[in-house]
Order: sequence, then C-alpha cells, then structure tokens
Amino acid sequence: MCGIVGYTGPREAYPIIIKGLKRLEYRGYDSTGVALQNGGLKVFKKKGKVAGLEDTIVGKDLHAHTGIGHTRWATHGEPSDINAHPHTSASGKLAIIHNGIIENYSQLKQELTNKGYSFKSDTDTEVLLNFIEEIKKNNKCDLEEAVRIALKRVTGAYVILLLDEDKPDTIIAARKGSPLVIGIGKGEHFLGSDASPMLEYTKEVVYVNDYELAIVKPDELILKNLGNAKLTPYIQKLDIELAAIEKGGYDHFMLKEIFEQPQTIYDCLRGRLDAVAGTITMSGIEQYAEQIRHAKRIVMVACGTSWHAALTAEYIFEELCRINVEVEYASEFRYRNPVIHRGDVIIAISQSGETADTLVAIENAKAKGAIILGVVNVVGSSIARASHGGAYTHAGPEIGVASTKAFTAQLAVLTMIALKIGHEKGVLDDDRYMHLLNELYEVPEKCAWVLKSKDHIKALAEKYKDARDFLYLGRGYNFPVALEGALKLKEISYIHAEGYPAAEMKHGPIALVDENLPVVFVATKDTYHDKVISNIQEIKARKGKVIAVITDGDEISKALCDDVIIVPEADEIMAPMLSVVPLQLLAYYIGVARGCDVDKPRNLAKSVTVE
Ligand code: F6R
Repeated sequence: MCGIVGYTGPREAYPIIIKGLKRLEYRGYDSTGVALQNGGLKVFKKKGKVAGLEDTIVGKDLHAHTGIGHTRWATHGEPSDINAHPHTSASGKLAIIHNGIIENYSQLKQELTNKGYSFKSDTDTEVLLNFIEEIKKNNKCDLEEAVRIALKRVTGAYVILLLDEDKPDTIIAARKGSPLVIGIGKGEHFLGSDASPMLEYTKEVVYVNDYELAIVKPDELILKNLGNAKLTPYIQKLDIELAAIEKGGYDHFMLKEIFEQPQTIYDCLRGRLDAVAGTITMSGIEQYAEQIRHAKRIVMVACGTSWHAALTAEYIFEELCRINVEVEYASEFRYRNPVIHRGDVIIAISQSGETADTLVAIENAKAKGAIILGVVNVVGSSIARASHGGAYTHAGPEIGVASTKAFTAQLAVLTMIALKIGHEKGVLDDDRYMHLLNELYEVPEKCAWVLKSKDHIKALAEKYKDARDFLYLGRGYNFPVALEGALKLKEISYIHAEGYPAAEMKHGPIALVDENLPVVFVATKDTYHDKVISNIQEIKARKGKVIAVITDGDEISKALCDDVIIVPEADEIMAPMLSVVPLQLLAYYIGVARGCDVDKPRNLAKSVTVE
C-alpha cells in the first residue's frame, strides 16, 4: 500500500530511487514520483507505473545526492498526475511522500483553508505537509520540530519522508502503523518500505518503530521519539539475498513463486521437523506451549489468503488438538469488541506482517491480556514485533501481488504447531503423530510432482479462459482451498469466481449452473470423497463443466469429470498444500491468456497498510 524510497549519500540518488521503486511496485502502482535535491527541490511525478515516469523524464537534469520516491496505491483522490506523490508545500520549499491515511485530514484542511491555504491535489498528504509548513512558519522552528508537533495532532497511519530545500542533505522520516526500514551504509543511508531497495548496498538495517522520528543525513542517523528524546537505533542484519527478489528467468514473480513452493515448504520445515527423531522444534511456540495446550479456544485473525490458511488450520487444530478454534476476519474482529479473556491465545497470520487490520486486531487483543502468536513471513515486520511469540514462515520475499508460496508456508507452519500441541496433549498417539510427521516431510517432494502438470493446466486455461464466471467447490480441508482458488482467479484474471462448501452449493449457487459455467472441484481422496462425487454428479446432471483436482489413481472421478488435474496421494491434513498449487497455476495461466498484468492486478496492493 504505497512504496516509499529515500537516499542520501555520495551516490547519484535518482537511479537508486527508481530501482527501489520498481522493487516496491508490488505495494501500489497507480502513480509514481520522485523529489530530488538539485539546487532546489525538483519534483517529477506521473500517473501510472514507474516505467512510465522514467520514459517521461528522459533528458532531464536528475543529478542529486539526496532524494525520495513514491509508488502509489490511491486512498484519497483518484490516480492522476496531480494526486501523485511527492507533494510540495505552499511555499514550494518542502516535499513529502506518504504511505497511509491521515484520518483527521478534513479537519486539518478546514483549519488551513481558514488561514488562506489552497490545495492542488485531493490528497490527505498535501494537507499534512501544509499543516507541517504552517507550524514551521508559526513556531519559527526547523522541519524536525514542526513534524514532531504536527504528528501529535494527526490521527491515522503513516510513514512520511520529507525534504526541506534549505537542508539539502537531510531526510526527515516518521512512522506510525506503516513500515519503514533504514539501511546503514558507509557515509550514506537508504530508506524503504521494506529492505528490497537497499539489498545490494547494505545488510545493516534499522526497523523504525511507531511514534519514532528519524533525522537522516549521509553520515548520521538520529532516532527520536515524539517527545524529542534520543533513542539508540537497534541495528539488525538482513538475511535476504538479491536473487530472492529477482524473477530468475520466469516471466512473472507469481510463476516463480508458485514454482518455489517445494523449496519454500522445505525451508519452512527445515531445522524444525525431524521425521526420524519424531520431534518438532519451534522455540517461539515452545515458550507458550503450556498456554496453548490449556487454551479453551484459539482465535485466528487474518485477511485474504492468510484468512484461508487460518480456515484450513481451524480444521487441522480441531482435529489434531481438540481445541476450539475461531477464525476471524481481522477487519471485523478489531471493531466488534470481541470477548477476550486473559490468557486467550490469538494466532495472527500474515505474509507481509504489515496488514493494518490484523495489526490493530492483535494490539487490541494484547491490551486485553491475550497471548499473541504471529505466523508471519516478513522478518522484523510490525505483526512479528507485536507478537509475544510465534513462528516465521521462511517463504522468502513474496513479490507477486497474489499470494501463493506464503499460503503453503503458512499451512506448513500451522500444521507443525498443531502436530506438536496435539502430540503433547496426548490427542495424537505416537503412531499417528509419526505418520503425519512423515506425511508432512513428504509434502515438498509431492509439491514438485504437482508442478509437472503445468503444461496440462496451461492447456486447460486456454480452454476455459473466456468463461464469465467460475464456481469453486470443496469439502472439509478442501473447502478453504476452493475459496483460495476462487480468490486467485478473480484477482489475477478479473473473472468472477465464487468458492463454496460443495454441499452448500445446493442452497443457492446451483441456480447458476448451466453448460457455460466451469465448476472447479477440489476432490482429492479424503473422508468426504463419496459426498463430493455426488456433488459432481449434481453439477453434471445440470450440464455444468467440471474441472476437478483429484488424487492419482482415482479413475472414478476421472471418468466423471470433463477435465482433471492429478495430485499425488497424501493424508487429507496435508492435501491443501498440494491441491491449492494447480489452482494457483490455473489462475495464473488464465490471467496471462487474458492479457492481464498478473504480478500487478488492477486496484490491488500487496501490503494493505490502510484499513
Ligand atoms: C490474495 C492476497 C491478499 C492477502 C491479504 C493479507 O492473493 O494477497 O488477500 O492475503 O491482503 O495479507 P497479509 O498476509 O500480508 O496479511
């Protein structure tokens, strides 16, 4: 949800900023802009993607050693050249980029309008900047002081980077609720929404916390709180390599990430699961294992694909641990005044670790005494830091906007937690525990097997790409997979798709079925298989086209369906990690066949840092 980049140091700032913005485009891409300190502030901005901005400023003098850049996901004001960031203040001496929402901007705007200010854009950001400028002018203070005073009046979420024409080598940065990383170089500093813009320059970073303000110069980083007290920056080492954020020969990040899954699931299990010794080692869970074992209920909060992982985990935890699980949309949970008791266990699931609703949901629950466990991909992210314990998913950077490898890694982590707790509780006897440990251990290899169907799935995509709607159905562990398959298709190809529990179909959606409706069944062999077969028959009887994900050797289903995609046999608890993969590929190939920008689908952003 908006990407921000900054640089100050001896190098040329513009190429660093542009490259950084391209890496952050997954966060938003409806307009782009840069501000450079080049004998005064020079601002270049344009509606559209980063490449579009580059084309329009060819031949301009872009020389600068300090600058900021922004790629936008619109909140206030439509995507346009005017609404693109950076914004400049009324005097033209200050420039700002912003990720987040200033909730009380209309009140601030009114105050400024009463003082004679007028605004070029429709954004909350321009209001904030002029509010800061007004304080600077009135209080006769420097920009740092003005920002500090202004932020005490502001409600909402933000990361802001500001330039002041009179301090050409300094960037002022502040954060609340949106991510900010500062990379420490030799005589230079890099700023970003995540570490990707700075990976080739430094491995030393500082994750700025909420209500902190940074004064960033080439050879100095000063961190303060809003009370003006100096803080010691906590420098951490990055363990991401540059290759992890490049396409590596694939046409799209999404495809690369789908194909990475055998490795990412393996990376997630590595060092934790020992299928020979029969152990699962997860220190961030072990600390709270007793509370989890005795929990009367576990609440899982998440959004989107991560919510689907939570829903799958509900089935797994209830089966393996016999603990009641409630799965909550973070956006509903945070506003519903939910009943939370001291000691309740909340599991927050998030790829980015920055999703605003999930973050606030756990902060609220924490304040009521709950134990918060994070299942998060991005190391050092806000949700990871706000959690008491938990486990990283180790899937590596996920750049394609549609989540793929994060989902399977989340399932791998959640399955390990459930196995561990279920065994410790005595719900799982040793035999079943060892069987499931081995089944989990085999998932990466089986996932590689599934990926071999790629050409067949591509051919199916060609066949069905012109459908207007799709229905996705599944039961039990495969019901959340059906939801996830439908979500992938709609976000990547813009085809309307709905996911339903297969049996629920009779209570309404069956009215949609005719010879033009492809119905995707997730129909691997499990406890409910016979029932799913009956549901397939019901669709066939109404001339629907059935595409089914089935288990290797299931000749009955094969004979019944129009098209099948085969996955290897696996315990039903592990099946979602395999059956989701063909659905990711189907969505991908349909999206590509329809000419969609699958890595950057319209209106979406990877990291939803506004509510
Ligand atoms: C779907 C997708 C989104 C995210 C959701 C939560 O492909 O990417 O639905 O799953 O925005 O994001 P995280 O997991 O980062 O909290």
